[in-house]
Amino acid sequence: MVNRYPHQLVSDNASGVHPEVLAKFANVNHGHVTGYGADPVTREALERFASAFGKHSETFLLFNGTGANVLALKGMLQSHEAVICSDQAHLLVDECGAPEHFVGCKLIGVPTRGGKFGVEQIEAWLATDGGGVHHNQPRVISLAQATERGTLYSLDELRGIGEYARERGLLLHLDGARIANAAVALGVEFEDLAEWADVLSFGGTKNGLMMAEALVVLNPELLHRYPYIRKQGMQLASKHRFLAAQFLAYFDNDLWRRNAANANAMARRLAGGLTAIDGVRLCEPVEINLVFVQLPTAWLEALQCLTPCLAWRGEQQSEVRLVTSFDTTVDDIDRFIAAFGELASRH
Ligand SMILES: Cc1ncc(COP(=O)(O)O)c(C=O)c1O
Repeated sequence: MVNRYPHQLVSDNASGVHPEVLAKFANVNHGHVTGYGADPVTREALERFASAFGKHSETFLLFNGTGANVLALKGMLQSHEAVICSDQAHLLVDECGAPEHFVGCKLIGVPTRGGKFGVEQIEAWLATDGGGVHHNQPRVISLAQATERGTLYSLDELRGIGEYARERGLLLHLDGARIANAAVALGVEFEDLAEWADVLSFGGTKNGLMMAEALVVLNPELLHRYPYIRKQGMQLASKHRFLAAQFLAYFDNDLWRRNAANANAMARRLAGGLTAIDGVRLCEPVEINLVFVQLPTAWLEALQCLTPCLAWRGEQQSEVRLVTSFDTTVDDIDRFIAAFGELASRH
């Protein structure tokens, strides 16, 4: 079959769906079962989540990542309370105000280095806050693992923030849109990453699924709210077995691990090739499947002809983000580097 769409490095959602996931759709596509999650496919998928996150956890399958973040927060705080997050957090800058609109809460973006923040930045913000009835009360710390800059919190860093949150009576939310990439890069299991989290937005779509994400609730005190919040929040699928089927394929034969390992490895290859070209500078360490590089602004237009990508345009120098996927091949990267090298030599 002719591939009508050239390989793009704009995002990990530019990719298609992994064939094992498509096969699982066909596999569960027979007979009639009760909707809304009361079916054997869903039961099996939820058991896989319980194995991955521990028996005390409970998982709710959803359609998308913005929905996961919004519903996670909806169950964690009230409208007079606030979420402390990175000033680059997806939920702060890329969700069209969905958390503010649907939760009604305030989001406080604290300054980050490489997309990460820690106790120091939280304390600095709290020190400027007068407290009292005139101010939103901080209730949730939200971290992205991996971050929007492709960086990772180590298990020690997560523990530090988690312990701080518990001492201060705050809850911890993890945005895990790329949690598989993070787990593979750190060489840990999902459960290790979620140890200090109260609620986790678990991503699947960016790592080979069609459209499936999940909320993993780890704090038993919050649990009773989520079945209702999901339905009220319009994220309860009626033909639920097809959301569940995607996760069955994901956990079968470690598909999540294979996909993330490939995407991460291709990002390292891409970064190696790009930084060998004069004029290109790496902006962040490449820890998952995101590559941020600085290059002359004069190259931008030609680069955008090779692949669409996010770009932050400066007068002389610009920054771009390139993203590899579960299905990016060595050949895709090498061809891109060769074409990019040629355009660089022309300027
Ligand atoms: C860190 C992070 N969180 C959440 C999301 C939201 O995912 P969706 O586009 O499915 O709403 C994204 C998507 O780009 C993301 O990068």
